[in-house]
Amino acid sequence: MTAQNLAAPQIKITVRPGEARPISDLLFGAFFEDLNYAADGGLYAELIQNGSFEYSAADYPDWNFLTAWELVGSCTVALGRAAPLHPNNPSYLVLGVDGAEGEVGLCNHGYGGIHLATGSAYEFSCFVRGLSGAIGPLQVQLLGRKGALLAQAELPPPRPEWQQVTVTLHAAADDLFAACRLLFRGVGTLALDMVSLVPCATFRGRPHGLRADLAQVVADLRPRFLRFPGGCLVHGEGLGNMYRWQDTVGPRHTRRAQPNLWNYHQSGGLGYYEYFQFCEDIGAVPLPVVPAGVCCPNTEAKYTGAWEQGQCGLPLAEMPAHIQAVLDLIEWANGPDTSPWGARRAVAGHPTPFGLRYLGVGNEDQITPVFRDRFRMIYDAVKARHPEITVVGTVGPYPEGPDYLAGWEFARELGLALVDEHGYKEPGWYWANLGRFDAYDRAGPRVYLGEYAAHDLGRRSTLRGALAEAAYMTALERNGDIVVMASYAPLLGKEKHMQWRPNLIYFDNSRITPSISYYVQQLFSLHAGDHYLAAALDLGAHAADVAVSCVRAGRRGDLILKLVSRAEVPIAATIDLGGMGLGGAGTLPPAAACITLCGDPLAENEFGARPSVVPQASAIPVAPQFRHILPAHSLTVIRLAAARAD
Ligand code: AHR
Repeated sequence: MTAQNLAAPQIKITVRPGEARPISDLLFGAFFEDLNYAADGGLYAELIQNGSFEYSAADYPDWNFLTAWELVGSCTVALGRAAPLHPNNPSYLVLGVDGAEGEVGLCNHGYGGIHLATGSAYEFSCFVRGLSGAIGPLQVQLLGRKGALLAQAELPPPRPEWQQVTVTLHAAADDLFAACRLLFRGVGTLALDMVSLVPCATFRGRPHGLRADLAQVVADLRPRFLRFPGGCLVHGEGLGNMYRWQDTVGPRHTRRAQPNLWNYHQSGGLGYYEYFQFCEDIGAVPLPVVPAGVCCPNTEAKYTGAWEQGQCGLPLAEMPAHIQAVLDLIEWANGPDTSPWGARRAVAGHPTPFGLRYLGVGNEDQITPVFRDRFRMIYDAVKARHPEITVVGTVGPYPEGPDYLAGWEFARELGLALVDEHGYKEPGWYWANLGRFDAYDRAGPRVYLGEYAAHDLGRRSTLRGALAEAAYMTALERNGDIVVMASYAPLLGKEKHMQWRPNLIYFDNSRITPSISYYVQQLFSLHAGDHYLAAALDLGAHAADVAVSCVRAGRRGDLILKLVSRAEVPIAATIDLGGMGLGGAGTLPPAAACITLCGDPLAENEFGARPSVVPQASAIPVAPQFRHILPAHSLTVIRLAAARAD
C-alpha cells in the first residue's frame, strides 16, 4: 500500500456524542487461578519448596515428603506425624543427626533454585523441636549455585516443645540458583516443620506476602476486580479436593495444604487473607469463587479414596456445613471485628471489613439436578442472610452448548443478577462474534465474562490472538451495560511449569515477560470509559477487519477511541468527532495521545527477551474531523484529553 493509496480515506467513523450508554465501572478485571505454579513458586513470595514436608504422591506421582530437599552428611530421616504443630498440618520431618560425622543437615533448592539479590534481606524461619539426645544450635546458610556462602546465622538449639525460630539474612551476592542449607550439631533427633525463607521486600511490604515484581505487573494492569482462586481449582478433583477457603486463613502453620488439581501442591500460604489484601492493595474489587457443592466434572477423585468419575455432589447431609462455610466467608470478609469470623480477620491484621460485594458460586459446572439442588441451597441462604451480596452463577465451560443453555435457563429461573460465562476460541471466532452481546436480553441476568482468551495455533500468545481479544473488547465496551465484568484467563504461567497456554504473564524465578495480550488488557483498562458513545461506521471493504469503540471517561470527559485492525495493509481512517466539544464547556485539544500496538500477526513476546511487541505512544494532531492511518495488524488508542475552557 503506497502513501498515495492512503490519500483517500477508506473508512469513516462518525461519533454520535448524543447517544451515550453507561459502561460498568468494573468492566476490565483479572482472573487469578492457582495453576501453572501461579501461587506456590509464583505470586506467593515463599522461596522454600515443600517447607512443611507435606508433599506426597497425591500431589504428583513422584513426590514425597523430601521432594526439593537434599540431605547433607549422614543423617537419618523419617516422616513424623505424632503431635504435629497443628492437626491441619499433620506431617513434619524427623531428622537424626550425629555431629561427630561432620556437617549434617539438609538443603532446599527452592523452586528450581532460589533467586537472591545482593544486599537484600530475607527472613528465615522454621519450627523445630528436640526429640532426643543433645542437639546444638542450628546453623542456617544461603549458598550460591557453586557453593559460595552468601549469608549465614545461628539459631538457638531446639527445645523439647515446638518453637518457631527466626532470623534475617542478607545475601552477599546475586544468585539465580541459590540454596538454603540447615546444619545441626550434636547427637540426637529433632523435628522440623514450616521451613521458610521470604524476601523482606514483598509487595507493599506485607509480611510473608507476595513477590513484589510479579504482583506489580498484575497491579499495573489496573484490574477493577480480581477473581480467585480459580477456575477448576475451586471445585476440585473429587469432593475431598474442593477449595475450602477457611483452611487458608489464620497462621500459616494452621492452614491445610492440599493437592492442586493441576498436579502439584497448594500450601495455602497464599490464602484468602492474602487474596483480599492484594485486592485492597491494588484497588480491585474482590471476587472469590466458592464451590457449588459439586466437584469438577472431569474428576477422577484420586484423593478421596472412593473412585468417583464425573460430577459428584456433596451428600445432602454435608450441605448445611458447606453453606455455613459460605456464610462464614461473608462474615469473615465483612463482619465487624466483634463477630466470630470478623474477629479472626482482625487478629490476622485487618480490623476493618474488606467490603465483599460479589461472590462466585461454582465454576463451569455441569447443570445437572445434583448441581441445581446444591446451588439453589447456597443461593437461597446467601440471599436470605446477605441480600447485599451479588451471587455470580455459572453457565458451563463453553459459550454455547447444553450447559450454557441450561445454565442460562436456570439463572433466569432463579432471577440471578449475574452469571459467569466462559469461552476460549480461535482468533477468528472473536471477530465473527463481535455482535454476540448486542443481542443479549437486557432484562435478564447480566454477564461476567469470567474466562476468555484467543487460542491461536499451538496455543501461542500471538499478536493475532491479542488483536482478536482487542476487537472483542470493543464489543464488550459497547455492551458495557450488560457485560459488567470481564477477565482474560489465565493470568500467570511459570516457565517449565505450564499446564495451560496461553497466559497473560509469563515468568520464572527472576524474569517476567508480559504477553502481547497483557498490553491489550492494560490499554483497555488504563483507557476505560464510563460511557459508550455510539458511532456511525462506514468501513467499506474493511467491515470484517476493523472493530471500533468510542468511550467517554472520567469527570473530565476525555474521549477515547479504540481502533482494531486485522487488515494486512494500513487503512486510512477519517474520524469525525460529531461536533463534540470536550469537557462540557470545554475545548478540543490540538493534539491527542495515540498509543499503537502492532507488528507481525504471528509475533510473540519471547520469554526472557525484551518484549518485541509493546505499545508505542506518540502525540497526533486532531481536529473536529481528522485523518489517521491504522497500521496493519494493530490496536490504536487515541485519547483526547478534555480541557476546560475557563
Ligand atoms: O483457565 C484455565 C481453566 O479453564 C479453568 O480452570 C477452567 O475454569 C477453564 O476450563
